[in-house]
Amino acid sequence: MVPPEALTQPVGGAPATGVSPGQPAPSGVPEPIVVFDKVRKTYGDLVVLDDLDFHVAPNEKVAIIGPSGSGKTTILRVLMTLVKPTGGVVRVGGEPLWHQEVNGKLVPASDRHLRKVRGKIGMVFQHFNLFPNMNVLRNVTEAPMHVKGLSRSDAKERARELLDTVGLGDKLEHFPGQLSGGQQQRVAIARALAMDPDVLLLDEVTSALDPELVGEVLNILRKLAHETQITMLIVTHEIGFARDVSDRVVFFDKGRVAEEGPPSQIFTNPQNPRTQGFLKAVLQH
Ligand SMILES: Nc1ncnc2c1ncn2[C@@H]1O[C@H](COP(=O)(O)OP(=O)(O)OP(=O)(O)O)[C@@H](O)[C@H]1O
Ligand SMILES: [Mg+2]
Repeated sequence: MVPPEALTQPVGGAPATGVSPGQPAPSGVPEPIVVFDKVRKTYGDLVVLDDLDFHVAPNEKVAIIGPSGSGKTTILRVLMTLVKPTGGVVRVGGEPLWHQEVNGKLVPASDRHLRKVRGKIGMVFQHFNLFPNMNVLRNVTEAPMHVKGLSRSDAKERARELLDTVGLGDKLEHFPGQLSGGQQQRVAIARALAMDPDVLLLDEVTSALDPELVGEVLNILRKLAHETQITMLIVTHEIGFARDVSDRVVFFDKGRVAEEGPPSQIFTNPQNPRTQGFLKAVLQH
């Protein structure tokens, strides 16, 4: 059994203070926790994010789908501060991520500001990215101790709780190389949760797994989606999973939102021919 309290983390961090100056959200509508405001990313002539406007509400679970190269990973990497946008403004919890406000003006963010805002975000990668030379417990305690300043005993206690939750309470001393792919990915999920993120980014987290290991990871994520307030951005080709857990499906094409809506609409009655073609290809696969 997964103790629900182990997964139910309060949504911490700074309160949302506005999307963009002068444009308050209509009353009754929650302020978005993630905002992409005309975000552009280019590599030479290649336009990867094309003045992207994209909002995510607190506690919303958004599935991101789209063809290869459409910019899905780039969106998550921009949020993790791994990719710097060429233009536009990104906000997390009302605060600019790549900028900071000085005398009412947005100026490029300092490393300290980037680290602070990024602290609200956790990410799970396709290829797990665990520290191979650290055991499971240390993989999960390392960042809370060194980034959040938790004591060793508090970090260990929290890590044990989370590793129990993902069904790995008996593997604390194992090293990543001694675990299956599904187990490694579950450690990676526990590691991301150990930082108490407000926003969790998941980038095709089952696509490197053998088919029989996919279910154990999706089950953990289903629980997280259904039982916690964590905002989730889920890049996935698992249509059944996306239908199950998401409030909204966003179809990206060429660095823009081409179509979006509730899963019941996008998966059964897509309007855009590109969405129709993409879903046909994915479902036949
Ligand atoms: N460092 C880089 N230098 C040049 N081009 C890059 C770089 N990183 C990404 N790209 C290009 O940006 C585009 C978008 O990449 P991205 O990884 O966001 O796509 P994606 O939608 O996640 O695709 P996939 O479904 O294959 O994972 C691709 O054309 C990719 O080749
Ligand atoms: Mg990708």
